[in-house]
Amino acid sequence: MGEKRFNFNTKAVHFSEKDIAKNVSKAKPIYQTSAFVFSDLNDMESFYQGEKEYLYTRYSNPNTDDLAKGVAQLENAEDGVSTSSGMSAILAGILAVVKPGESIIASNDLYGGTYQLFADELPNFGINVRFVSFENLNDVEEQIEESTVLLYTESITNPLLRVEEIDKIVALAAKYDLKTMIDNTFATPYLLRPIDLGVDLVVHSATKYIGGHSDVTAGVVVGPKNLIAKAKAKVVTLGCNLTPFEGWLACRGLKTLALRMERQCENAQEVASSLADNAGVDKVYYPTNVSKQGNGAIVTIKLAKDINIETFFQTLAWIKIAPTLAGVETTVSYPLRTSHRTVPSEVRESLGIDAQVVRLSIGIEDAQDIIDTLVEAIEQSKNDRS
Ligand SMILES: Cc1ncc(COP(=O)(O)O)c(C=O)c1O
Repeated sequence: MGEKRFNFNTKAVHFSEKDIAKNVSKAKPIYQTSAFVFSDLNDMESFYQGEKEYLYTRYSNPNTDDLAKGVAQLENAEDGVSTSSGMSAILAGILAVVKPGESIIASNDLYGGTYQLFADELPNFGINVRFVSFENLNDVEEQIEESTVLLYTESITNPLLRVEEIDKIVALAAKYDLKTMIDNTFATPYLLRPIDLGVDLVVHSATKYIGGHSDVTAGVVVGPKNLIAKAKAKVVTLGCNLTPFEGWLACRGLKTLALRMERQCENAQEVASSLADNAGVDKVYYPTNVSKQGNGAIVTIKLAKDINIETFFQTLAWIKIAPTLAGVETTVSYPLRTSHRTVPSEVRESLGIDAQVVRLSIGIEDAQDIIDTLVEAIEQSKNDRS
Protein backbone atom coordinates (compact mmCIF):
# COMPACT_ATOMS: atom_id res chain seq x y z
CA MET A 1 0.00 0.00 0.00
CA GLY A 2 2.33 2.73 -1.21
CA GLU A 3 -0.45 4.63 -2.91
CA LYS A 4 -0.82 8.31 -2.26
CA ARG A 5 -4.62 8.18 -2.11
CA PHE A 6 -4.55 6.69 1.39
CA ASN A 7 -4.14 8.85 4.42
CA PHE A 8 -1.60 8.68 7.21
CA ASN A 9 -3.48 6.41 9.65
CA THR A 10 -4.52 3.93 6.99
CA LYS A 11 -0.98 3.74 5.64
CA ALA A 12 0.41 3.34 9.18
CA VAL A 13 -1.72 0.23 9.67
CA HIS A 14 -1.57 -1.29 6.19
CA PHE A 15 2.02 -0.71 5.06
CA SER A 16 2.91 -4.40 5.19
CA GLU A 17 3.20 -6.16 1.83
CA LYS A 18 0.40 -8.61 1.19
CA ASP A 19 2.24 -11.27 -0.78
CA ILE A 20 5.23 -12.83 0.95
CA ALA A 21 5.01 -16.22 -0.76
CA LYS A 22 8.01 -15.56 -2.99
CA ASN A 23 10.30 -15.18 0.04
CA VAL A 24 10.33 -18.39 2.03
CA SER A 25 11.89 -18.06 5.46
CA LYS A 26 14.38 -20.75 6.54
CA ALA A 27 13.30 -20.49 10.16
CA LYS A 28 9.66 -21.13 10.88
CA PRO A 29 7.94 -17.74 10.94
CA ILE A 30 6.22 -16.70 14.14
CA TYR A 31 2.49 -16.45 13.49
CA GLN A 32 2.11 -13.70 16.07
CA THR A 33 -1.53 -13.20 15.30
CA SER A 34 -4.74 -13.66 17.22
CA ALA A 35 -6.69 -14.66 14.09
CA PHE A 36 -6.38 -15.66 10.43
CA VAL A 37 -8.01 -13.86 7.52
CA PHE A 38 -10.24 -15.15 4.71
CA SER A 39 -11.00 -14.07 1.16
CA ASP A 40 -14.78 -14.47 1.54
CA LEU A 41 -17.43 -16.22 3.67
CA ASN A 42 -17.03 -19.52 1.81
CA ASP A 43 -13.33 -19.41 2.51
CA MET A 44 -14.07 -18.86 6.22
CA GLU A 45 -16.66 -21.63 6.21
CA SER A 46 -13.95 -23.97 4.93
CA PHE A 47 -12.34 -23.84 8.41
CA TYR A 48 -15.52 -25.24 9.96
CA GLN A 49 -15.62 -27.94 7.27
CA GLY A 50 -12.12 -29.04 8.29
CA GLU A 51 -10.52 -27.86 5.03
CA LYS A 52 -8.55 -25.02 6.58
CA GLU A 53 -6.41 -25.41 9.69
CA TYR A 54 -6.48 -21.99 11.29
CA LEU A 55 -9.16 -19.48 12.25
CA TYR A 56 -8.37 -18.06 15.68
CA THR A 57 -5.18 -18.56 17.72
CA ARG A 58 -7.01 -19.67 20.85
CA TYR A 59 -8.30 -22.60 18.78
CA SER A 60 -4.97 -23.39 17.12
CA ASN A 61 -1.92 -21.73 15.60
CA PRO A 62 0.98 -23.05 13.47
CA ASN A 63 3.61 -22.35 16.16
CA THR A 64 1.70 -23.92 19.04
CA ASP A 65 0.70 -26.87 16.84
CA ASP A 66 4.33 -27.34 15.88
CA LEU A 67 5.28 -27.82 19.51
CA ALA A 68 2.45 -30.26 20.16
CA LYS A 69 3.25 -32.27 17.04
CA GLY A 70 6.99 -32.24 17.74
CA VAL A 71 6.57 -33.58 21.26
CA ALA A 72 3.95 -36.09 20.09
CA GLN A 73 6.39 -37.45 17.50
CA LEU A 74 9.20 -37.80 20.03
CA GLU A 75 6.85 -39.49 22.52
CA ASN A 76 5.51 -41.84 19.78
CA ALA A 77 2.01 -40.50 20.43
CA GLU A 78 -0.68 -40.04 17.77
CA ASP A 79 -1.39 -36.41 18.58
CA GLY A 80 -0.81 -33.61 21.06
CA VAL A 81 -1.97 -30.22 22.23
CA SER A 82 0.17 -27.45 23.65
CA THR A 83 -0.95 -25.28 26.55
CA SER A 84 -0.02 -22.15 28.45
CA SER A 85 1.92 -24.08 31.15
CA GLY A 86 2.60 -27.52 32.56
CA MET A 87 -0.21 -26.96 35.05
CA SER A 88 -2.79 -26.29 32.35
CA ALA A 89 -1.52 -29.33 30.39
CA ILE A 90 -2.21 -31.47 33.45
CA LEU A 91 -5.65 -29.91 33.94
CA ALA A 92 -6.62 -30.32 30.26
CA GLY A 93 -5.44 -33.94 30.28
CA ILE A 94 -7.36 -34.73 33.45
CA LEU A 95 -10.57 -33.10 32.21
CA ALA A 96 -10.26 -35.09 28.97
CA VAL A 97 -10.58 -38.38 30.85
CA VAL A 98 -12.29 -37.70 34.19
CA LYS A 99 -15.89 -36.53 34.63
CA PRO A 100 -17.58 -35.08 37.73
CA GLY A 101 -18.31 -37.87 40.20
CA GLU A 102 -15.32 -39.90 39.05
CA SER A 103 -12.03 -40.10 40.93
CA ILE A 104 -8.27 -40.38 40.51
CA ILE A 105 -5.57 -42.25 42.39
CA ALA A 106 -2.39 -40.19 42.34
CA SER A 107 1.08 -40.77 43.69
CA ASN A 108 1.69 -38.86 46.93
CA ASP A 109 5.14 -37.62 45.88
CA LEU A 110 4.16 -35.34 43.02
CA TYR A 111 5.39 -31.85 42.16
CA GLY A 112 3.84 -29.55 44.81
CA GLY A 113 1.81 -27.54 42.27
CA THR A 114 0.22 -30.71 40.92
CA TYR A 115 -0.51 -31.84 44.46
CA GLN A 116 -2.24 -28.53 45.12
CA LEU A 117 -4.22 -28.68 41.86
CA PHE A 118 -5.43 -32.16 42.76
CA ALA A 119 -6.12 -31.47 46.44
CA ASP A 120 -7.63 -27.97 46.21
CA GLU A 121 -9.04 -27.47 42.70
CA LEU A 122 -10.17 -30.77 41.22
CA PRO A 123 -12.80 -31.27 43.97
CA ASN A 124 -14.41 -28.04 42.62
CA PHE A 125 -14.84 -29.90 39.31
CA GLY A 126 -16.49 -32.79 41.20
CA ILE A 127 -13.32 -34.88 40.89
CA ASN A 128 -11.75 -36.40 43.98
CA VAL A 129 -8.15 -37.52 44.26
CA ARG A 130 -6.71 -40.10 46.60
CA PHE A 131 -2.99 -39.74 47.24
CA VAL A 132 -1.19 -43.04 47.71
CA SER A 133 2.45 -44.10 47.72
CA PHE A 134 3.13 -45.77 44.36
CA GLU A 135 6.21 -47.52 45.78
CA ASN A 136 4.15 -50.62 46.44
CA LEU A 137 1.45 -51.06 43.81
CA ASN A 138 -0.52 -53.36 46.12
CA ASP A 139 -1.28 -50.22 48.15
CA VAL A 140 -2.55 -48.56 44.98
CA GLU A 141 -4.68 -51.56 44.08
CA GLU A 142 -6.27 -51.54 47.53
CA GLN A 143 -7.47 -47.98 47.00
CA ILE A 144 -9.21 -48.61 43.65
CA GLU A 145 -12.95 -48.16 43.96
CA GLU A 146 -16.00 -47.99 41.70
CA SER A 147 -15.50 -44.29 40.90
CA THR A 148 -11.77 -44.61 40.04
CA VAL A 149 -11.01 -43.94 36.37
CA LEU A 150 -7.39 -42.78 36.33
CA LEU A 151 -3.96 -43.57 37.80
CA TYR A 152 -1.65 -40.52 37.81
CA THR A 153 2.05 -40.21 38.57
CA GLU A 154 5.40 -38.82 37.40
CA SER A 155 7.92 -41.00 35.54
CA ILE A 156 10.70 -39.60 37.75
CA THR A 157 9.29 -37.94 40.83
CA ASN A 158 10.01 -34.40 42.00
CA PRO A 159 12.20 -33.86 44.04
CA LEU A 160 13.31 -37.29 45.36
CA LEU A 161 13.70 -38.88 41.91
CA ARG A 162 11.87 -42.15 42.46
CA VAL A 163 11.54 -43.96 39.13
CA GLU A 164 8.11 -45.44 38.50
CA GLU A 165 7.65 -48.96 37.19
CA ILE A 166 5.45 -47.76 34.36
CA ASP A 167 4.82 -51.21 32.85
CA LYS A 168 3.42 -52.44 36.17
CA ILE A 169 1.20 -49.37 36.56
CA VAL A 170 -0.15 -49.96 33.05
CA ALA A 171 -0.82 -53.63 33.87
CA LEU A 172 -2.68 -52.66 37.06
CA ALA A 173 -4.75 -50.09 35.16
CA ALA A 174 -5.62 -52.64 32.48
CA LYS A 175 -6.86 -55.08 35.15
CA TYR A 176 -9.48 -52.53 36.29
CA ASP A 177 -10.03 -50.81 32.92
CA LEU A 178 -8.53 -47.53 34.15
CA LYS A 179 -6.71 -44.87 32.17
CA THR A 180 -3.11 -43.86 32.97
CA MET A 181 -1.50 -40.44 32.81
CA ILE A 182 2.19 -39.76 33.38
CA ASP A 183 4.06 -36.50 33.86
CA ASN A 184 7.27 -37.11 31.88
CA THR A 185 8.83 -33.71 32.55
CA PHE A 186 11.96 -34.93 34.37
CA ALA A 187 12.71 -37.85 32.05
CA THR A 188 11.73 -36.27 28.70
CA PRO A 189 11.15 -38.55 25.70
CA TYR A 190 14.95 -38.67 25.30
CA LEU A 191 15.08 -41.02 28.29
CA LEU A 192 11.58 -42.54 28.57
CA ARG A 193 8.56 -42.90 26.30
CA PRO A 194 5.64 -43.98 28.50
CA ILE A 195 3.27 -44.23 25.48
CA ASP A 196 5.41 -47.16 24.21
CA LEU A 197 4.66 -48.91 27.50
CA GLY A 198 0.90 -48.46 27.10
CA VAL A 199 0.29 -45.21 29.00
CA ASP A 200 -2.73 -43.24 27.70
CA LEU A 201 -1.72 -39.63 28.23
CA VAL A 202 1.71 -38.06 28.79
CA VAL A 203 2.10 -34.48 30.02
CA HIS A 204 5.05 -32.13 30.11
CA SER A 205 5.93 -28.89 31.70
CA ALA A 206 7.66 -27.71 28.49
CA THR A 207 8.94 -24.88 30.68
CA LYS A 208 11.63 -27.38 31.66
CA TYR A 209 13.74 -29.59 29.35
CA ILE A 210 11.59 -29.19 26.21
CA GLY A 211 12.19 -25.42 26.23
CA GLY A 212 15.53 -25.87 27.97
CA HIS A 213 16.56 -22.24 28.29
CA SER A 214 14.37 -20.96 31.15
CA ASP A 215 12.73 -18.40 28.86
CA VAL A 216 9.34 -19.93 28.19
CA THR A 217 6.35 -21.19 30.20
CA ALA A 218 4.52 -23.93 28.29
CA GLY A 219 2.89 -27.34 28.55
CA VAL A 220 2.03 -30.23 26.25
CA VAL A 221 -0.31 -33.22 26.50
CA VAL A 222 0.13 -36.12 24.06
CA GLY A 223 -1.80 -39.33 23.49
CA PRO A 224 -4.30 -40.99 21.18
CA LYS A 225 -6.31 -38.81 18.77
CA ASN A 226 -9.64 -39.32 20.55
CA LEU A 227 -8.34 -38.21 23.97
CA ILE A 228 -6.31 -35.33 22.55
CA ALA A 229 -9.42 -34.06 20.73
CA LYS A 230 -11.12 -33.88 24.13
CA ALA A 231 -8.09 -32.21 25.75
CA LYS A 232 -7.95 -29.67 22.87
CA ALA A 233 -11.62 -28.82 23.41
CA LYS A 234 -10.85 -28.09 27.08
CA VAL A 235 -7.85 -25.91 26.16
CA VAL A 236 -10.01 -23.90 23.73
CA THR A 237 -12.89 -23.43 26.16
CA LEU A 238 -10.77 -22.74 29.23
CA GLY A 239 -8.54 -20.44 27.18
CA CYS A 240 -5.32 -22.00 28.41
CA ASN A 241 -3.74 -22.01 24.96
CA LEU A 242 -0.04 -21.36 24.42
CA THR A 243 1.01 -18.09 22.77
CA PRO A 244 2.65 -18.26 19.31
CA PHE A 245 5.96 -16.75 20.41
CA GLU A 246 6.29 -19.13 23.36
CA GLY A 247 5.41 -22.01 21.05
CA TRP A 248 8.14 -20.85 18.69
CA LEU A 249 10.69 -20.56 21.51
CA ALA A 250 9.82 -24.00 22.88
CA CYS A 251 10.18 -25.49 19.38
CA ARG A 252 13.61 -23.94 19.07
CA GLY A 253 14.51 -25.56 22.39
CA LEU A 254 13.09 -28.92 21.33
CA LYS A 255 15.54 -29.13 18.42
CA THR A 256 18.47 -29.46 20.86
CA LEU A 257 16.75 -31.61 23.48
CA ALA A 258 18.88 -34.68 22.75
CA LEU A 259 22.17 -32.77 22.76
CA ARG A 260 21.35 -31.00 26.00
CA MET A 261 20.06 -34.12 27.72
CA GLU A 262 23.12 -36.12 26.72
CA ARG A 263 25.51 -33.58 28.24
CA GLN A 264 23.32 -32.79 31.25
CA CYS A 265 22.86 -36.47 32.13
CA GLU A 266 26.62 -37.10 31.87
CA ASN A 267 27.34 -34.11 34.09
CA ALA A 268 24.66 -35.15 36.60
CA GLN A 269 26.15 -38.64 36.83
CA GLU A 270 29.56 -37.14 37.65
CA VAL A 271 28.11 -34.73 40.21
CA ALA A 272 26.10 -37.53 41.88
CA SER A 273 29.14 -39.85 42.08
CA SER A 274 31.36 -37.13 43.45
CA LEU A 275 28.89 -35.90 46.11
CA ALA A 276 28.23 -39.49 47.27
CA ASP A 277 31.76 -39.46 48.74
CA ASN A 278 31.41 -36.07 50.39
CA ALA A 279 31.17 -36.08 54.18
CA GLY A 280 28.92 -33.00 54.04
CA VAL A 281 26.26 -34.93 52.13
CA ASP A 282 24.16 -37.50 54.00
CA LYS A 283 22.35 -38.83 50.96
CA VAL A 284 22.40 -38.44 47.20
CA TYR A 285 19.13 -39.12 45.40
CA TYR A 286 20.11 -40.01 41.85
CA PRO A 287 18.41 -42.86 40.01
CA THR A 288 20.35 -45.66 38.37
CA ASN A 289 17.64 -47.36 36.36
CA VAL A 290 16.01 -44.78 34.08
CA SER A 291 17.32 -45.69 30.62
CA LYS A 292 20.41 -46.60 28.57
CA GLN A 293 20.64 -42.96 27.50
CA GLY A 294 21.15 -41.76 31.07
CA ASN A 295 19.45 -41.23 34.39
CA GLY A 296 18.32 -37.64 34.16
CA ALA A 297 19.92 -34.33 35.01
CA ILE A 298 18.47 -33.61 38.44
CA VAL A 299 20.50 -34.58 41.49
CA THR A 300 18.83 -34.14 44.86
CA ILE A 301 21.00 -34.16 47.95
CA LYS A 302 20.37 -34.23 51.67
CA LEU A 303 23.06 -32.15 53.31
CA ALA A 304 24.53 -33.37 56.59
CA LYS A 305 23.13 -31.83 59.77
CA ASP A 306 26.30 -29.83 60.36
CA ILE A 307 25.92 -28.00 57.04
CA ASN A 308 24.29 -24.60 57.45
CA ILE A 309 21.69 -24.42 54.72
CA GLU A 310 21.53 -20.61 54.62
CA THR A 311 25.31 -20.36 54.20
CA PHE A 312 25.28 -23.09 51.55
CA PHE A 313 22.83 -21.11 49.41
CA GLN A 314 24.87 -17.92 49.94
CA THR A 315 28.18 -19.42 48.84
CA LEU A 316 27.27 -21.01 45.54
CA ALA A 317 29.14 -18.43 43.45
CA TRP A 318 27.89 -18.63 39.84
CA ILE A 319 25.32 -21.38 40.53
CA LYS A 320 22.08 -19.42 40.77
CA ILE A 321 19.24 -20.12 43.18
CA ALA A 322 16.12 -20.61 41.04
CA PRO A 323 12.73 -22.18 41.73
CA THR A 324 12.81 -24.05 38.44
CA LEU A 325 14.96 -26.63 36.69
CA ALA A 326 16.20 -27.95 33.37
CA GLY A 327 17.88 -24.89 31.88
CA VAL A 328 21.32 -25.10 30.28
CA GLU A 329 22.74 -23.40 33.38
CA THR A 330 23.19 -25.36 36.61
CA THR A 331 20.77 -24.03 39.22
CA VAL A 332 19.84 -24.99 42.73
CA SER A 333 16.48 -24.95 44.48
CA TYR A 334 15.05 -25.55 47.91
CA PRO A 335 11.93 -27.76 47.68
CA LEU A 336 10.84 -27.09 51.27
CA ARG A 337 10.29 -23.40 50.57
CA THR A 338 9.42 -23.48 46.85
CA SER A 339 8.12 -26.42 44.79
CA HIS A 340 6.79 -28.32 47.83
CA ARG A 341 5.87 -25.38 50.05
CA THR A 342 2.14 -26.05 49.69
CA VAL A 343 2.36 -29.80 50.32
CA PRO A 344 1.06 -30.53 53.85
CA SER A 345 3.99 -30.75 56.28
CA GLU A 346 3.08 -34.28 57.42
CA VAL A 347 3.17 -35.48 53.78
CA ARG A 348 6.50 -33.74 53.21
CA GLU A 349 7.95 -35.26 56.36
CA SER A 350 6.75 -38.75 55.50
CA LEU A 351 8.43 -38.42 52.10
CA GLY A 352 11.68 -37.14 53.61
CA ILE A 353 11.57 -33.62 52.10
CA ASP A 354 13.15 -31.79 55.01
CA ALA A 355 15.21 -28.67 55.70
CA GLN A 356 18.46 -30.27 54.47
CA VAL A 357 17.11 -31.36 51.08
CA VAL A 358 18.47 -29.43 48.10
CA ARG A 359 17.57 -30.02 44.44
CA LEU A 360 20.32 -29.48 41.88
CA SER A 361 19.44 -29.01 38.23
CA ILE A 362 22.62 -29.83 36.39
CA GLY A 363 23.44 -27.80 33.29
CA ILE A 364 25.76 -28.12 30.30
CA GLU A 365 28.84 -26.51 31.87
CA ASP A 366 32.02 -28.50 32.55
CA ALA A 367 31.27 -31.11 35.19
CA GLN A 368 34.42 -30.37 37.20
CA ASP A 369 33.49 -26.71 37.57
CA ILE A 370 30.06 -27.68 38.88
CA ILE A 371 31.55 -30.18 41.33
CA ASP A 372 34.28 -27.80 42.58
CA THR A 373 31.73 -25.05 43.23
CA LEU A 374 29.35 -27.35 45.12
CA VAL A 375 32.16 -28.90 47.17
CA GLU A 376 33.51 -25.46 48.02
CA ALA A 377 30.04 -24.29 49.15
CA ILE A 378 29.60 -27.40 51.33
CA GLU A 379 33.05 -26.88 52.83
CA GLN A 380 32.31 -23.23 53.65
CA SER A 381 28.94 -24.07 55.20
CA LYS A 382 30.09 -26.39 57.94
CA ASN A 383 28.53 -25.05 61.12
CA ASP A 384 31.67 -25.29 63.21
CA ARG A 385 33.42 -22.86 60.84
CA SER A 386 30.81 -20.14 60.89
C1 LIG B 1 7.15 -32.34 37.30
C2 LIG B 1 6.44 -31.04 37.05
N1 LIG B 1 5.24 -31.07 36.46
C3 LIG B 1 4.54 -29.93 36.22
C4 LIG B 1 5.05 -28.70 36.59
C5 LIG B 1 4.26 -27.44 36.32
O1 LIG B 1 4.78 -26.83 35.19
P1 LIG B 1 4.59 -25.26 34.85
O2 LIG B 1 5.35 -24.51 35.88
O3 LIG B 1 5.13 -25.15 33.46
O4 LIG B 1 3.14 -24.98 34.92
C6 LIG B 1 6.31 -28.64 37.20
C7 LIG B 1 6.87 -27.33 37.59
O5 LIG B 1 7.89 -27.25 38.20
C8 LIG B 1 7.03 -29.84 37.43
O6 LIG B 1 8.21 -29.85 38.03
